Amino acid sequence: MRVLLIGSGGREHALALGLSKDPAVTKLIAAPGNPGIAEVAELMPVDALDPAAVLELALKTQADLVIVGPEAPLVNGVADPLRDKGIAVFGPSRKAAQIEGSKDFAKRVMAEANVPTARYFTCTTRDEIESALNAFEKPYVVKDDGLAAGKGVVVTDDYNTALKHALSCERVVIEEYLAGPEVSLFVVCDGDTAVPLLPAQDFKRINDNDEGPNTGGMGSYTPLPWAPKDLTETVMAQVVQPTLQHMKEQGTPFQGLLFVGLAITAQGPKVIEFNCRFGDPETQSVLAMLKSPLGELLYAAATGKLADFPPLRWREGAAVSVVISTSGYPESPRVGDVITNADGLFHAGTKLDGKDLKTAGGRVLTATATGPSLKEARKAAYELVSKVDIDGAHYRTDIALNAANAE
Ligand code: AMP
Ligand code: GLY
Repeated sequence: MRVLLIGSGGREHALALGLSKDPAVTKLIAAPGNPGIAEVAELMPVDALDPAAVLELALKTQADLVIVGPEAPLVNGVADPLRDKGIAVFGPSRKAAQIEGSKDFAKRVMAEANVPTARYFTCTTRDEIESALNAFEKPYVVKDDGLAAGKGVVVTDDYNTALKHALSCERVVIEEYLAGPEVSLFVVCDGDTAVPLLPAQDFKRINDNDEGPNTGGMGSYTPLPWAPKDLTETVMAQVVQPTLQHMKEQGTPFQGLLFVGLAITAQGPKVIEFNCRFGDPETQSVLAMLKSPLGELLYAAATGKLADFPPLRWREGAAVSVVISTSGYPESPRVGDVITNADGLFHAGTKLDGKDLKTAGGRVLTATATGPSLKEARKAAYELVSKVDIDGAHYRTDIALNAANAE
């Protein structure tokens, strides 16, 4: 099977590594990819946001399966012309990707499907915004309706900060704050059948002890020793099945990866957000645990054959991922610093400058390691981190620390 993977982040590097280990994948092409992905795939240039360009590349490379990694191409409809041409594609249609592309769309699906989530108001005027803010207690949760590359959500105790962010959005969702630890559950979907992966936890804030601004994610681990034993089963029954059923009935069946972001509240799991693709850096940890062939799994999802796929097999033990970011991330990431000793890490914001590997984005590398326990996986991940040399690099030192202690 010839596979074309669209994207260039750490998530795509983890996907590429998994695909390269599947004997059914005879050729792997990544577009545009990055210097780390180049070690396991052939790279080709593409404007990933352009549906016509991605279709042309899929035809040129004679891809049997196209996997679209990031949300922006999916929300732009990159999957649709591929599917129309009969090419197997892992990733939802433009309409189904609205589950991530529009917070209002996602909240409506949840309301209509009776899925547990925060109470909310969608607002477009100052009056609506002020009455919505006044309807909830602190902290205020204010979400830009559209895609905002991780900058759309503000959670704050300060009324004026909440108001200012809300007024800066064309359309805004203001919702109830959900208290409780967060979980990311990835579900592989073929439109009818849904197969959950291992639940993981992400660390959103830039600094230790969950301090500082929100980021795309600074680390992750799986499994979750503290989570209720029946968590996945509960979320599949209360969230995933009703959501998929409703989307199908509405004529927008979801085919691809449904990312369920949850808060485990005192009343049980409630949805914080849906994404229409694998999360980063949870993917690096989750795929490190997967023993089943990744290419065959995603191909089964893309061709409506998930019901026939054998139950997923997982490694024993645990996986931990630690993200290395540049100084200044997330506000103003510094780029252009030389990177040395990055062997064995997943690449995201890296580029080759002649023979030098240099920083090219906020999140640069992810160190992922597995081990018989979270404690050992953590130790191995931090050993990988300690070998890397980047001027001004930053990483959190407490990824999976509490969970390892609770194990
Ligand atoms: P996002 O940018 O959509 O991934 O959201 C960023 C983060 O905001 C989430 O991971 C949560 O930590 C937080 N968040 C979003 N919605 C809520 C909510 N209703 N209650 C509490 N925290 C939230
Ligand atoms: N790690 C969270 C995300 O990918 O959105």
